[in-house]
Amino acid sequence: MAEDGAPGFRHFDFTAMSADECYRLLASSVVPRPIAWVVSRDKDGLVNAAPYSFFNCFGGDPPVIALGILPQPDRPKDTARNILDSGDFVVNLVTEDVAEAMNLTCIDAPADVSELDLAGLETAPCEKVGPPRIVASPVALECRLAHHIWTGPKQLLIVGHVVAAHYRRDIIDDGDRPRIDTAAMGMVGRMHGRGSYARTTDLFEMERPRWSEYKAARKD
Ligand SMILES: Cc1cc2nc3c(=O)[nH]c(=O)nc-3n(C[C@H](O)[C@H](O)[C@H](O)COP(=O)(O)O)c2cc1C
Repeated sequence: MAEDGAPGFRHFDFTAMSADECYRLLASSVVPRPIAWVVSRDKDGLVNAAPYSFFNCFGGDPPVIALGILPQPDRPKDTARNILDSGDFVVNLVTEDVAEAMNLTCIDAPADVSELDLAGLETAPCEKVGPPRIVASPVALECRLAHHIWTGPKQLLIVGHVVAAHYRRDIIDDGDRPRIDTAAMGMVGRMHGRGSYARTTDLFEMERPRWSEYKAARKD
């Protein structure tokens, strides 16, 4: 880690840093991150749930989401194994009212323990994939594994196609081009460190600029 040529900035050479340092800097600065509460099933049908905040959506044609799973030698992640074995999973989105239950499901329980039972969470069957969705979550995305890439020996990138979704009635209307009441959902995001989260209640708006209006405004 060296001083940057640019005053007021500290420079980091990620190619010369430990994996832990890289992780800490990235995970503390690329924030807030949405949380995928992933439900998957093992070969025996045991249902597993765990949160993953290396998560986002990456397009609509086809509808794509991705997850970053970091299995450790002493802690191989059930979610990774289940998705690779079964080829499907459900991403439930995390709101403030389910945040504590979500947190409980990241407990380091043995593979034969269902975190959903532990957290007392009700599930409902999906339409197109095997694992169920979490009823308490207002949005559930049914996903099929499209690609997986080992980006490092302990780093798996899962790319999924969203094949169906469930939106709770109170946050969506019946229109042909449905409007979602995003503010009412009360999503939370993951911040720095192991236990820091953000609410999505402090919002502001900005109009997207148009070149023609920008140019016209500059003329006078
Ligand atoms: C909010 C939150 C976000 C997390 N995000 C990730 C992540 O993106 N990648 C990861 O490998 N682990 C992540 N974890 C840790 C896993 O949830 C944890 O290791 C869990 O026990 C894995 O469960 P599984 O073995 O059932 O998949 C996160 C934990 C929390 C609480």
